[in-house]
Amino acid sequence: MLNATHHFPALSTKPYGQRLAFLDNAASAHKPQVVINALTQALSGPYANIHRGLYFNSAETTAAFESARQTLATFFGAQPEELVFTRNSTESINLVAQTWGRQHLTATDSIVLTEAEHHANIVPWQLLQAQIGFTIRVLPHTLLANPTEADLTPYLQGAKLLAITAMSNVTGLKPNLPTILAAAKSHGLTILVDGSQSAVHAPTHLSTVPCSLFTDFFVCTAHKLYGPTGIGLLWARTDMLNNLPPYQGGGDMIDTVHLPTGTTYASGNARFEAGTPAIAEAIAFAAAADFVTSLGWEAITAHEAHLADLLTHTLTDLPFLELYSPPATGIAAFNIKGAHAADVATLLDQQGVAVRSGHHCAMPYLKALGTPNCLRASLALYSTPQDIAQLAAALQKTAKMLL
Ligand SMILES: Cc1ncc(COP(=O)(O)O)c(C=O)c1O
Repeated sequence: MLNATHHFPALSTKPYGQRLAFLDNAASAHKPQVVINALTQALSGPYANIHRGLYFNSAETTAAFESARQTLATFFGAQPEELVFTRNSTESINLVAQTWGRQHLTATDSIVLTEAEHHANIVPWQLLQAQIGFTIRVLPHTLLANPTEADLTPYLQGAKLLAITAMSNVTGLKPNLPTILAAAKSHGLTILVDGSQSAVHAPTHLSTVPCSLFTDFFVCTAHKLYGPTGIGLLWARTDMLNNLPPYQGGGDMIDTVHLPTGTTYASGNARFEAGTPAIAEAIAFAAAADFVTSLGWEAITAHEAHLADLLTHTLTDLPFLELYSPPATGIAAFNIKGAHAADVATLLDQQGVAVRSGHHCAMPYLKALGTPNCLRASLALYSTPQDIAQLAAALQKTAKMLL
């Protein structure tokens, strides 16, 4: 059993004087002390803006920032020049929609989304659709776990893009990406994988050998991966980045600037990093990746698999619950039958249990699951059997109060 709780100072907060069972990790994870230290050090050490100053502090901060990119490239099995720092997954997807999408899609085209997407992988495409007028095809969530080529062909044939989550933030469902991505490639689609949840629970190898994910774009967000807010990643191969138009204009993304016209742009990832980036946050994101690496994926995945199983069994044993997640995903979506999710979440909170309630930024998926809202308990590497026991006891008490 991994024992990592002591690395996370915020876990010792005591809501209403009680032990905290923090089970809203799919929304955002807590930060280990090393990440907090890295953030503090980046701001209190030889800080300056990057890529600009010809003086000591600027050179030091530039080196730390680019070293963070290198660390993250190693962590994601990628090359540093393939990583674009963004604000979060949401910005990464908007970037792809407004660059690749504007460049490649016309009113007569189709793109494919799945019913299980977070709004961040739906709305950017709908904004683009309003600008361009293409068709959005929707892969049902029931097809994602075990699709055959024949199931997928009607959705993929003739489409230009597939944008798909690697792990649902509502149920933890993991689409069968090897099958789905291979089918999408065989139909010539460009692929975007939303790794916001998957990157937290298993290693990702984007371009180094052995590559675990054959995609064109990959996005993730640091704050779910034990890093700070305000920083995320877009991954794409260098030739893809070189062929995309800029997203935002400003400092650092240019080659030469002319008035009134004639400005030229930097190549590769630099073209997409306009303005001063989240410098300290990028450095702290790399510290989070180093922290995960120091614990080891083997230990993390074994610990989380054990707890995910325990969570499913514990909730299955409570007869007053309706469960929506597949077994042992580490993200359990459920309701107390006959009670409103918001009432349950409020009563759980009073017992020190933090879970998410509502539509989880995935209204179409909730609709397909047959409920407008539900509760969600989600695990992290620091979760413990005690957290799950506290959830179960609090649910028993809550059900007695409400039913
Ligand atoms: C699957 C998935 N995609 C995208 C996002 C958006 O992440 P962010 O808000 O950090 O951009 C989330 C956040 O909950 C998510 O779970």
